[in-house]
Amino acid sequence: MPDTVISVENLSKRYLIGHQSAQRERYTALRDVVSREVRNFLRKASDLVAGRQIVQGDEVEDIWALKDVNFEVKQGEAVGIIGRNGAGKSTLLKILSRITEPSSGLVKLRGRVGSLLEVGTGFHPELTGRENIYLNGAILGMSRKEIRRKFDEIVDFADVEKFLDTPVKRYSSGMYVRLAFAVAAHMETEILVVDEVLAVGDAQFQQKCLGKMTAVAQQGRTVLFVSHNMVAVRNLCNRTIVLSGGSATVFEDVASGIRLYAEGNGSGGTNSWLRPHHQAITELGFKSISAALSGEQPDLTLAIEITLVGRNIHRAAMVAFHVSNELGLNLLHVVPSNGPCIAANALDGTYLCQIALPPLIPGRYWVTAWIGPSYFETFEFCRDCVSFDVTESPLSGRTAQHAPDHGFIVPKSEMSRCG
Ligand SMILES: Nc1ncnc2c1ncn2[C@@H]1O[C@H](COP(=O)(O)OP(=O)(O)OP(=O)(O)O)[C@@H](O)[C@H]1O
Ligand SMILES: [Mg+2]
Repeated sequence: MPDTVISVENLSKRYLIGHQSAQRERYTALRDVVSREVRNFLRKASDLVAGRQIVQGDEVEDIWALKDVNFEVKQGEAVGIIGRNGAGKSTLLKILSRITEPSSGLVKLRGRVGSLLEVGTGFHPELTGRENIYLNGAILGMSRKEIRRKFDEIVDFADVEKFLDTPVKRYSSGMYVRLAFAVAAHMETEILVVDEVLAVGDAQFQQKCLGKMTAVAQQGRTVLFVSHNMVAVRNLCNRTIVLSGGSATVFEDVASGIRLYAEGNGSGGTNSWLRPHHQAITELGFKSISAALSGEQPDLTLAIEITLVGRNIHRAAMVAFHVSNELGLNLLHVVPSNGPCIAANALDGTYLCQIALPPLIPGRYWVTAWIGPSYFETFEFCRDCVSFDVTESPLSGRTAQHAPDHGFIVPKSEMSRCG
C-alpha cells in the first residue's frame, strides 16, 4: 500500500480585499474626499503597526479562497486540480509550496516539494538563469555536486542555453516558464506541483512538459497538476479534485471530475446571455441562445436559436458556432454562410441555424457562439453557452458503451469484398 504523502485537513484561506465605498451622496465636496483619505491613511497606519495585512479602500470584504478543504494524496499519484477562474486552485498550490500560510487547517507533507507556480514566483528576477538554477537547488537542500549533475539536463530541456547568463527578468514569459518547469521537474523532489504551465508555452513545449510529468509520475514521484486543458488532465492524471468557490470535491477517477467541471460551464438547453456588467456591447451581442436536437442517430439535427441585441449598428454580421466535447476539445466548426448573413439594417431579431450533425457518441456537448463583422473582428464571443445531450449510440442496436478514447464521431461506413 503506497504511503500518504500529502494530507490536507480542514484547510481554509481567507483574504481581505478593499473597495472604495460607493458614493451615496449626489455631490461630493472636497471636504468629504479629504476626510475619507485621512481616515483611510490612519487605518492603514494602525494596520501596519499591528502587523495586519494592509488593505486598499475604505470598505473591507472577506474572500474565502479555500473553505474547509480535505483530501489525501498517495505516493506516485498524479492528481488533476480543476475549477473555474478564481476557484482557489493557485491558492491551494501556494499553500502546499509554503509560499502562503493557511488561515486555518493543517497540511502534512512527506518529502520535498518542487513547484512551478504562476510566472513571477520561484525565481529571483535580478539573478541569471544559471544562478537561479543553483539557488533553487540549494533551497531544496541539494549539494552543488548534485545540482551540477542535473544542470545540463535542465538547460537542455528548457532550451535556453544562449540566455543562461542573462537575468531572468529579461526572459520572455515563454522562456521563463521553460526554465522554471525544467528546474521543478528535474530536481529530484518527492512532490511536483505545477500550475497552468501549458497556458504559456508553445504547442511543442506543452507536449514535452506533459511527457516529462508522465515520466515523473512513473518514477513514483507525486504530481499535482492545475490546468484548464481537460485533454491534458485526462492524459496525465489518475484522480481529480474539483474546486468551486473554495470548496473541494474529490473524485477517485478523472472522467467524473471533468464532467462536474464541464457541467458548471454548460447551462442546459437555453442561456439568456448575461454579459458581465463591466463589458458593454460594442455594436451587437447575444441576448439569448438556445439549442435543441431533433431527428434520430445517425441523422441528428441541431437547431440553434439566437436573439440579438444591437447598439449603434451600421455593419452586417457573420455568425459561427463551435461544438466541443466533454474534454473541451472543439469537434465541429459551423459557419452557416461564407459572408455576412445578418443584414446591417435588420440586426435586432431572432435567427435560427440548423446544423446536420455527424454521428456522435453519447455524451454532453457544448456550443460556443461567435458574431462579428468579418473573420478578423469580433462583436461578441460566448464560450460553452449552451449544451445538448446525445443519448443514443450512432450505431443502431449497439449496447456496449462508447469510450471517449476511441473518438467522438462515428462516421457512416460500409465494408464489402472487392477482390
Ligand atoms: N493575494 C491575494 N489577495 C486577495 N485575494 C486573493 C489573493 N490571491 C487570491 N485571491 C482571491 O482568492 C480567490 C482564489 O484565487 P486563485 O488565484 O486561487 O484562483 P484560481 O483557481 O487559481 O483561478 P485561475 O483559474 O484564474 O488561475 C480569488 O477570488 C482571488 O481574487
Ligand atoms: Mg490560478
